[in-house]
Amino acid sequence: MPKDGIVNLIRPELANFAGYSAGKSLEEVIASARFPINGVIKLDANENPYGCSPRVMEALSKYDSFNIYPDSAQRELRKLLAGYVGVGAEHIVASSGSDQMIGLITQLFVSPGDEVINFSPTFDIFRFAVALCNGRVVDVPRDENYNVDIAAAKKAITQKTKLIFLANPNNPTGNPTPQPDILELVDTGVPVLADEAYVEFCGETVTQLVNKYKNLMVLRTFSKWAGLASFRIGYGIFPPEVAGYLMNIKMPYNVSAASTIAVRESLKDTDLLMERVKKIVAERDRLFGELKKIEWLKPFPSRANFIFCRVLNGTARQIHEGLMDRSIIIRYAGNHLLKDCIRIGVGKPEHTDIVIKAIREIEAERH
Ligand SMILES: Cc1ncc(COP(=O)(O)O)c(C=O)c1O
Repeated sequence: MPKDGIVNLIRPELANFAGYSAGKSLEEVIASARFPINGVIKLDANENPYGCSPRVMEALSKYDSFNIYPDSAQRELRKLLAGYVGVGAEHIVASSGSDQMIGLITQLFVSPGDEVINFSPTFDIFRFAVALCNGRVVDVPRDENYNVDIAAAKKAITQKTKLIFLANPNNPTGNPTPQPDILELVDTGVPVLADEAYVEFCGETVTQLVNKYKNLMVLRTFSKWAGLASFRIGYGIFPPEVAGYLMNIKMPYNVSAASTIAVRESLKDTDLLMERVKKIVAERDRLFGELKKIEWLKPFPSRANFIFCRVLNGTARQIHEGLMDRSIIIRYAGNHLLKDCIRIGVGKPEHTDIVIKAIREIEAERH
């Protein structure tokens, strides 16, 4: 053991690595609230306010083989997901949340020193995954409306570029990237990951193109539309060759039997789940309208289950803290790109009413 202890043996680039900020726990929020209300309204992680299908709970309570490892080859799961997407099972690989798949894809393509194109501001796990592989994020900033600058992205490609990450619609800004723009990126030949975590709320997908292009990958999740965030169920749609490599490098039992049951039951209940998605989309549009009435906020149109707002007067941190005082959690990143911005998840109609009232109260407190 070296003199300075085990820390000296850690990979140097990770010794000062700050990690990913996932926000406060519910317990912390409850403990620090100044005006506690009945329960916490959690609108910071784009979760589904309606929960999961009741069929999931029922099926789990009847399952009697939790002592047995799940199928490492994901045979049933891949077939179920393939049926949902409308592709062959050879295109599908499932993961413990789509976060894990972002990590696996990065491990597959990125060696130390390789470059990955990212369009900031965007989902921070992309940066996180590249850092863990000791790759280099090449940031191509979005324009003032958060659209991707395709020409700049193409210019940024070098011999070392191994991946392009594109959240579509983007998190945190909620806007989609038009299909012709995605195709221009794919035409460069660099592997492109289109992260469609919010596709059920958006309706636009490039999945049908995976058959045609050998460098296009699509990422999906059950966390949002199916209300299964805590089960950690993600999956990707890949060219079969890439799917094969990912199956080889993933940990053997990376998706639990419980998660497989949750997928099976959710897919038997898509009518109910998509009815809820419709309600969330309607509520998103109402929340957007209500936020628009507040002169010092600039909400951006969203195709996902959250609304991104610029705070034009006062600070985003004040809003975040004022809401937190009332046990309402929204997302505030506070970094240099997003310090004037907040992201509010779409809840039930009563959540919209409470949030808007609270924002008005915070405004009154300022005067
Ligand atoms: C764009 C995007 N991709 C992936 C994820 C990760 O989802 P999960 O790991 O729950 O499947 C999120 C979660 O917020 C997201 O916004």
